[in-house]
Amino acid sequence: TKHVLGIKYLTAADVELILDTAREFKDVINRPIKKVPSLRDITIANLFFENSTRTRISFELAEKRLSADTVNFSASSSSVKKGETLLDTVNNILAMKVDMVVMRHPAPGAHHFLAGKIDASIVNAGDGTHEHPTQALLDAYSMRDALGGDLRGKRVCIFGDVTHSRVALSNIFCLQRLGAKVRVCGPPTLIPKFIGSLGVEVSYDVQDSLQWCDVANVLRIQLERQDTKYIPSLREYNRHFGITRARMDRLDKEIVIMHPGPINRGVEIDTEVADSSHSIILQQVENGVAVRMSVLYLLAARRNDA
Ligand code: CP
Repeated sequence: TKHVLGIKYLTAADVELILDTAREFKDVINRPIKKVPSLRDITIANLFFENSTRTRISFELAEKRLSADTVNFSASSSSVKKGETLLDTVNNILAMKVDMVVMRHPAPGAHHFLAGKIDASIVNAGDGTHEHPTQALLDAYSMRDALGGDLRGKRVCIFGDVTHSRVALSNIFCLQRLGAKVRVCGPPTLIPKFIGSLGVEVSYDVQDSLQWCDVANVLRIQLERQDTKYIPSLREYNRHFGITRARMDRLDKEIVIMHPGPINRGVEIDTEVADSSHSIILQQVENGVAVRMSVLYLLAARRNDA
């Protein structure tokens, strides 16, 4: 494939190749000299039409470790503010001889729209509530590390605001490719009706779901994507659906705690849980650089083969 638009379009073999290649890059970035020359003839534009801390910096570091030339674009300080369209913006940047585009955009499908109109490769760094493929890949990589390798038959529960989450959908597709069992758990108002049709279990019982799973991947309530009329009381949310210390203490087993970030501490997850020895939240961030190196490297190799 020329683009990475979503996990939905990747096969199990594609996912395995990306994760295996990422393992080699993880070794590279742990060496004193962290750079390889693989992408030294490639120029990559990182286009962020929505805020980001982890994904933007992680992609930029991945590109630098691969020796690519990089340019960063943030919509809030650009001519988008003067009314320039998405397509005009991207075509103007590509006119400066850019080979690949990493883009985050609030509109689901923005990347599909562009893919049909431009020659450069596109990597989806998040499109609205749709997909966030590299997050799912780094999550899968981190789960494999934490669970000793194979995810087949492992139980992963995605907790929280599934309706507004692009991480949920990409995680579901990715985990299914790797043979894991997936459940989603949250308030009925934040679990979309279609989710059962994807072959995942649905539960509204947090304690039962924590006991069921090997890995709890906890999602943020996305206040910015909700009509303020419908936002629940955050204190009530924590009491009924939060991953709290008290709920963790009731388990008769150890589970792995994950969160894609940014965290609403004290809302979907308590600080004591997020910072506990069960949490691999910062390992997820660390692994993100190697996973994104792998995605960019493999895409560039495909371009050269084409
Ligand atoms: N996980 C994630 O996408 O974080 P950012 O929004 O900070 O990039």
